[in-house]
Amino acid sequence: MKKQEFVIGLDIGTTKICAMIGRHNEDGDVEITGTGVTPSKGLRKGVVVNLESTIDSVERAIEKAEEEAGIEVVKVFTGIAGGHIRGFNSRGVVGISRTSREIKCRDVERVIDAGKAVAIPLDQEVIHVIPQEFTVDDQDGVKNPVGMWANRLEAEVHIVTGAVTSAQNIIKSVNRAGFEVEDIVLGPLASAEAVLSTEEKHSGVVLIDIGGGTTDMVIFSRGSIRHSEVLALGGDHVTNDISVGLRTSPQQAEDVKKDYGWATPSLIKREEFFHYPGVGGRRGGKVSLSQLCEIIEPRIEELFSLVNADIDRTGLARSISAGVVLTGGASLLRGLPQMAEQILDLPLRLGKPNGSVKGLGKDKDSPIYATAVGLVQYGLAYRRQKKMARFKGRNLFSQVALRMKEWLGEFF
Ligand SMILES: Nc1ncnc2c1ncn2[C@@H]1O[C@H](COP(=O)(O)OP(=O)(O)OP(=O)(O)O)[C@@H](O)[C@H]1O
Ligand SMILES: [Mg+2]
Repeated sequence: MKKQEFVIGLDIGTTKICAMIGRHNEDGDVEITGTGVTPSKGLRKGVVVNLESTIDSVERAIEKAEEEAGIEVVKVFTGIAGGHIRGFNSRGVVGISRTSREIKCRDVERVIDAGKAVAIPLDQEVIHVIPQEFTVDDQDGVKNPVGMWANRLEAEVHIVTGAVTSAQNIIKSVNRAGFEVEDIVLGPLASAEAVLSTEEKHSGVVLIDIGGGTTDMVIFSRGSIRHSEVLALGGDHVTNDISVGLRTSPQQAEDVKKDYGWATPSLIKREEFFHYPGVGGRRGGKVSLSQLCEIIEPRIEELFSLVNADIDRTGLARSISAGVVLTGGASLLRGLPQMAEQILDLPLRLGKPNGSVKGLGKDKDSPIYATAVGLVQYGLAYRRQKKMARFKGRNLFSQVALRMKEWLGEFF
């Protein structure tokens, strides 16, 4: 197996850093051949705040994955998230002024580029420009206009931007760990790749990835991304509240949450008391499941109220026929899916990495690894598209790729 056929996804999360190596196997399925997970100590709310410890964790995670896969890698596809992420829709228009009015790949590039020509603050950098639909003269809803005849081509695009400094710190961490960034991908877009079906994306769906430090959201309808948002609130806020409420260490609060935590008291079937240790050898205490829930519930309510308000603001609520898919580690809290379903008033399911991905093993087949799996899937699709574009002699993605190169080039 050639080394170029492997892709490595690097999810730099607030609680863990996960590197996953994968390829297309003989049957054409995505197969994960190596995984490395290390605790993340250098991030806050999805953003690198301590470079040295991030570099160390990145290096160890990738080395572990390399060891398991039995190959060495150079380039990685890495995720980005954090409260600095902005997502919005834009529109570009170009004229087709040649004698032959057939739309060519370069016209599609031009119109996507025109959609990008919006005022972006100096401290923000474009991460994605994703075409949603094209309008060819007056015909809207066109997915691929290449080859059609027209006077005018319009594109609707979704643009994702992020703070230049945050992106630079991710790139720097990867570079200083001894690797290169092949592309940066919005975290929830990668998770969507791993957990959503094509059908859901067409029917309209909200993906919510609740991690340790952030809750990332993307909305798809008619097969395209319509909205993206990152809220700086996640499972670690619940842990923190437990640590303060019970006067116990963050690590013990984390264990208490996983072992005894419920999102809502109405689902607790049998009341139970449990003991927990105090900080630094002090006497701990004894509480009931319902008392613990009194600490947890307000945070979960706060989180889904924010999500609800965000969905309302988009005006897309009516086009979400497939409902909500929840993923990320914090979605494993007992009773959380039921509570989310109630607050959001939409049908809901828990999203684990897609069943068609091979080689994950039982412990990695979890919402915790959705982003890493999605990054591998994204990377494989990106490489395949690049290869196809080269084969066709034109690179449809050259503008975006060039922009990435310019941006990354500064740090190589
Ligand atoms: N069984 C469980 N029950 C409740 N919470 C859990 C469970 N397992 C993990 N979590 C919580 O999930 C969170 C970590 O999730 P995840 O690994 O998706 O985050 P991350 O990707 O590191 O962070 P982020 O995406 O916010 O940068 C932590 O807050 C952890 O407490
Ligand atoms: Mg995450």
